[in-house]
Amino acid sequence: MTMLAQAEAADHALSEAMDRLVIVKSAIYTSGERDPRAPPPPQDTRGKLHLMGHDPRLPRMPDRPTLFDFFKYRFGPAIHMLQSARLAQKNGVSEKIVLACLLHDIASSGFIRADHGYWAAQLVEPYVDEEVTFAIRYHQVLRFYPDTSVGYTYPDSYLRLFGNDFKPPPYLQRAYEDARQHKYYMSARLLTVNDLYAFNPDVHVELEEFTDIVGRHFRQPEEGLGFDQSPSAHMWRTINWPTRYL
Ligand SMILES: [Fe+2]
Ligand SMILES: [Fe+2]
Repeated sequence: MTMLAQAEAADHALSEAMDRLVIVKSAIYTSGERDPRAPPPPQDTRGKLHLMGHDPRLPRMPDRPTLFDFFKYRFGPAIHMLQSARLAQKNGVSEKIVLACLLHDIASSGFIRADHGYWAAQLVEPYVDEEVTFAIRYHQVLRFYPDTSVGYTYPDSYLRLFGNDFKPPPYLQRAYEDARQHKYYMSARLLTVNDLYAFNPDVHVELEEFTDIVGRHFRQPEEGLGFDQSPSAHMWRTINWPTRYL
């Protein structure tokens, strides 16, 4: 089959699969665009089954997906996290902090943006050391607060993004104060230091550069992420199959 014929056959298979399925988006995907209290928009469900597995519009993941499979098949461009991890490495921080840098924004690139530090920490918590989880969870909060001891100032980009008058709400202020007292405060702080300067469209970094660090510090489950009964397995499954009806 020619390339064109292959592409046409794939298109045809996809539209056939779509004709047979009812695909419903979770309330969180549409909340704001539509009032979540309103009844869902009507869909033609005659002769169709509700989707309970793989969404045919997405690339299929392996049966036992690894962390890198999620980077390849479900996360948005990871260049920022990769550059951040490389910068951390260049700055000579520990391998655990390099790993934290590599993973710190996986929630905003593949799951949910709001409170992304908390979501990402929860995703990886069963598979990494407490220090890594802490750094990821609190980087989001600490980004709002300067620390002159390590040369960290409030990001200029936040002035552009949120305006000059933005003040973190009280719950973030409390989270910041808690983090400051914690034994892993500096781990989270080092993440923010290596996060800040990590945007450069011209620097290319391969995921595979971090294979060894991930191998040493990320306890990849044998059953694959999503299928190991860990406290966050359901979250990985949701990223794998985001439109499953139940
Ligand atoms: Fe972040
Ligand atoms: Fe970041």
